[in-house]
Amino acid sequence: MIQKLSGAVAIVTGAGSGLGAAIAQALAAEGAKCALAGRRREPLQAVADAIGAAAGEASVIPTDVADEAQVAALVAETIHTFGRLDVLVNNAGLMRPASLTQTSTALWDEILNVNLRGAFLLCRAAWPHLRHSRGQIINVSSMAAVQGYLDEAAYCASKHGLNGLTEVLALEGKPHGIRALAVCPAAVETPLWDQDAPADVRRRMMKSAQVADLVRWLVTAPRNLDFGPVIVRNFEDPWMQ
Ligand SMILES: NC(=O)c1ccc[n+]([C@@H]2O[C@H](COP(=O)([O-])OP(=O)(O)OC[C@H]3O[C@@H](n4cnc5c(N)ncnc54)[C@H](OP(=O)(O)O)[C@@H]3O)[C@@H](O)[C@H]2O)c1
Repeated sequence: MIQKLSGAVAIVTGAGSGLGAAIAQALAAEGAKCALAGRRREPLQAVADAIGAAAGEASVIPTDVADEAQVAALVAETIHTFGRLDVLVNNAGLMRPASLTQTSTALWDEILNVNLRGAFLLCRAAWPHLRHSRGQIINVSSMAAVQGYLDEAAYCASKHGLNGLTEVLALEGKPHGIRALAVCPAAVETPLWDQDAPADVRRRMMKSAQVADLVRWLVTAPRNLDFGPVIVRNFEDPWMQ
């Protein structure tokens, strides 16, 4: 099989579970060497082991994306280990449902710091290396970036912000050959829903591997193609019987 990302290096954040784990495995199957980032080492190591067992290559770099120094260290260690950076997948994210009045300032900051500030910090730190490689940024956003949901003030604000950031990255990146795009899934069956959706609803959601296939397709798409926010929804609403 021809591996379209052979020789390429990717950073995937939130790579220890759900969408991030599936995206890292999909990119690794396409030949990309992957730097796996997230706060907890154990789940990252399990994903790295799975990639290794499938003849891929991955390194584990525990990182809190909300911490500027840790983000700088993630990029530096990736370059030290693999020598280059071609693809940045900002996927780390938090969702904590709360009505507006139940949203404490601390909760607001926690969600914005990971979902939006973290992506900003990583894009800025990775930018010189992406300029060098004429690389790509995939921001894992959400349907919550294009519409509102009850009890999701901070989450919706963070994802709307992420799409806005992505639009600017696409503009600023174009003269340097950097392609930036946002992928906006509706509900996907991942640990994100552990506390917030019953088992039968979760079963009807689209699967991480399906979104990861889409991301793999986008990353390997011909470079004369450009993409606005890529929305992917469940054909039938998983919340409806
Ligand atoms: N599931 C859905 O329905 C859905 C739909 C649309 C968009 N999304 C987006 O998809 C992305 C992945 O979510 P998921 O559904 O796969 O849920 P998930 O399994 O809970 O994944 C979230 C990941 O983010 C990591 N993370 C959280 N805070 C972090 C931090 N400060 N620094 C680094 N990593 C951090 C977590 O690892 P650690 O806890 O170890 O740090 C975890 O691996 C999120 O951005 C989410 O908003 C999900």
